[in-house]
Amino acid sequence: MPLLAIGVATLDIVNLVDVYPKEDEKVRAIAQSVRRGGNAANTLAVLSQLGHECYWAGVLAGDSASRFIREELDSSGIDCRYAVIQSSGQSPTSYITLSKATGSRTIVHHRQLREFTAADFLTVDLEPLSWVHFEGRNIPELPGMFARLVKFPAIRTSLEVEKPREGIERLFPLADLLFFSRDYVHSRGFDVAEAFLRQVRQECRGDAILVCPWGEQGAYASGSVGQLCYSPAYSPDRVIETLGAGDVFNAGVIDGLLHGLGIDKALERACRLAGRKCGQEGFDNLAGVAHE
Ligand code: FRU
Repeated sequence: MPLLAIGVATLDIVNLVDVYPKEDEKVRAIAQSVRRGGNAANTLAVLSQLGHECYWAGVLAGDSASRFIREELDSSGIDCRYAVIQSSGQSPTSYITLSKATGSRTIVHHRQLREFTAADFLTVDLEPLSWVHFEGRNIPELPGMFARLVKFPAIRTSLEVEKPREGIERLFPLADLLFFSRDYVHSRGFDVAEAFLRQVRQECRGDAILVCPWGEQGAYASGSVGQLCYSPAYSPDRVIETLGAGDVFNAGVIDGLLHGLGIDKALERACRLAGRKCGQEGFDNLAGVAHE
């Protein structure tokens, strides 16, 4: 099914180290890879494998990294016709330290490109779309984009709430599906996902689905009739890398709901996909998991 995701596409420079270094330490990487990253783009890379027609919208720079990002999006089958080019800009770059000991990733992200705006969104042909997914980043501009979507009631919407950003709560009543990261939940003073979901439901639409991925402890959701559900994590025998596991999880939930699954089953599918991802490098060959 055709879907659009709006967010970032980045250059990820990934250094694999035996163990995560201490501050002021000098260590040697045991391997290095350069990849295309970015939450929305990663989510689409999985949705594309799962057979959906994927469109990415966001801002690209005019530098060589941007050409690499674009080529990688193309080769993942992601259509970039709505990308805006800021030729004076520099590609958003993440410097990522991946610990071989734990599979954890530590990201230092640099960004100086402008964000995708509601005016840019006017160029998007919404007619064919079944789903629009937003990263919760350009907060002042997102209500304008959601307002345009009101005229397309058949399109379902999702919002990723990854970081506490000023005014982000204003967006909560606008989306059909919301993903709240563990960091965001903690920033609201909650240690437990269920308690947070009960509280945040009052800030969202009554029929919205609310989801909290909880890493190695699984994931929680509150369905449109308010029921809480939980799925355990499906951790691999050995964690290779967690980089982008949350983005894979989001793809799993969206795919499940697009296929008409209930949120309990969609949550389980998403945890299986994210678990498989943690046991491998990158996002290839995940399609089989969704149908197991
Ligand atoms: C992983 C990721 C990376 C990217 C960073 C952006 O979730 O999307 O690919 O560099 O996060 O915040």
